[in-house]
Amino acid sequence: MIIDFKNVSQHYAPRTQEKMKEVLLDPAGIGPAIHYYMVRGGTEQKNITVWEPGTISGEYIKTYGHYHVGDLSETYSIIYGQGVALLQKLAEDESGKMIPDMVEDFQAIPVKAGQVVFMPTKVGHLLVNTGQTYFVTADDSPVDFDDRDPSSFPGHADYELVKKMRGFAYYVVEHNGKPALKRNMLYKSIEKKEFNNLPVIK
Ligand SMILES: [Fe+2]
Repeated sequence: MIIDFKNVSQHYAPRTQEKMKEVLLDPAGIGPAIHYYMVRGGTEQKNITVWEPGTISGEYIKTYGHYHVGDLSETYSIIYGQGVALLQKLAEDESGKMIPDMVEDFQAIPVKAGQVVFMPTKVGHLLVNTGQTYFVTADDSPVDFDDRDPSSFPGHADYELVKKMRGFAYYVVEHNGKPALKRNMLYKSIEKKEFNNLPVIK
């Protein structure tokens, strides 16, 4: 196997509190300087993400969340810890464009080490660390090292729809020491919901 070492310095990217403010339940909440750490190698080498544990104004630390551009699915293997995967498919207009505030299908799936989560094409996704330890995953999405900022913002991912709505349709928050869901009221409608026994709180 021949490894091209010229891109090694581009593999790592941190996701900062400064950036995460855009999608937090409480943008003024106090959080760690870095919420999660990404080491991206691409489809063959895999991408590793490590989440800090903890909450910001009650919301568990999560990834920013994104939709894929084009026809691209992704598989996440949970390597360590426990969390919740959020998947949401937006409604589309006649031209097939996603409508930012109308969710067709929302799923919250509790996950732990050893499990695999499949993110189908067009389904927005993020993962939340609900445990006391680091939460670690490996995924197989591609990385194009010719992109401007390949590890922090890979070209296949669209973050703007999530930014516009200040997160996904539900936030994962701590309630009596356990994960619960809290509705993001900026979304106009959420048609199908699957919470997998996670409670919804006001
Ligand atoms: Fe993705």
